Amino acid sequence: MSKLPNVVASVFSTMSQLASEYKAINLSQGFPDFSVDKRLIEITENVLQESVHQYMPMAGYEPLLQQIATLTKKQYNRIVQVSTEILVTAGATQGIYTTLQALLSTGDEVIVLDPSYDSYEPSIIMSGGIAIRIPINNDYTVNWTVVDQACSFKTRMIIINNPHNPTGRIFTQADIEALEKILEKYPNILLLSDEVYEYITFEQKHISINTREKLIAKSIIISSFGKSFHITGWKVGYLIAPKNLMIEIKKVHQFMVFSVNSISQVAISRYLEVVTLEDIAPFYQKKREYFNNLLSTSRFKLLPCEGTYFQVASYAAISEKSDVDFCKWLTIEHGVAAIPNSAFYANGKDQKLIRFCFAKRDITLAAAAEKLISL
Ligand SMILES: Cc1ncc(COP(=O)(O)O)c(C=O)c1O
Repeated sequence: MSKLPNVVASVFSTMSQLASEYKAINLSQGFPDFSVDKRLIEITENVLQESVHQYMPMAGYEPLLQQIATLTKKQYNRIVQVSTEILVTAGATQGIYTTLQALLSTGDEVIVLDPSYDSYEPSIIMSGGIAIRIPINNDYTVNWTVVDQACSFKTRMIIINNPHNPTGRIFTQADIEALEKILEKYPNILLLSDEVYEYITFEQKHISINTREKLIAKSIIISSFGKSFHITGWKVGYLIAPKNLMIEIKKVHQFMVFSVNSISQVAISRYLEVVTLEDIAPFYQKKREYFNNLLSTSRFKLLPCEGTYFQVASYAAISEKSDVDFCKWLTIEHGVAAIPNSAFYANGKDQKLIRFCFAKRDITLAAAAEKLISL
């Protein structure tokens, strides 16, 4: 019997496969097609020559944990305890899965706001929990009254993702305050805050849960070096959680992964000494503007993108097809792959919206735009 009977091949792999089959430009899956910072390559080459090839400490390479603590202090003015509050994970995905395995009991409910990243629900189910998926409003704002009404003594956790994939939106101060009120009202509910796009924000920065005094004691905050340093294939991330929760999370981590890839951890810790994280946002902002300008004469209507490297577009003026059929048609007939937004909803809600990833070289974006403006 399948533990995940409703899980089929994800739309991300389907679209990528279709893109490669039809040699389409792949703006579907969220990964960069440009080269990695040369400094990181050089550092890694040097690291390879050292004696770094054996198991690392379970929670992470000590200098990397130190760097993460320094970064968290610098970015969010939060002091984290290196030995008890940080865990290096094999990407954010493992951080999320491990957290849920450690902290959920059978029958616990977890609130997930749709559209949502596709790993949340299967990870909840595998942990014995029940995902309560609440669609956000059509304008991509959250109705916190509905979230409040969905909470009960059965609710163990709320998952948020800020900046948000796929909508590209970030929470306002009012959103965070509304969330704080709910968590005050239900003191047993934990918060899992997926902030993997924390360094990719544009007109304004996102409000990290690291900065919220009221929430820190009940929050697990997820980060990904894959997203921040354009190295999604390295699969290295980390999570920050208070000691009491981290004790449980580490118990699962040690039997699931034990310790994350040694070479990557050493290389990233050294890279953190030289990299300027502030450069990431303007780099992607330029890409967003480049892509959006190219599409300005198209019939796509672009929705606001405040963060992440995803641009949501309405194709309502072009076609009446469902978003899945539209994406297939776009890939097969016009050579550009994108992701249908319905894939991020439990109920497959189709709003004639698709998601483009603009973490691509300008030449890739230009070639895709040329095809898109002809529609
Ligand atoms: C919202 C969100 N969370 C987590 C992840 C996974 O990150 P990682 O590659 O570090 O596992 C992704 C990747 O697309 C994502 O979009």
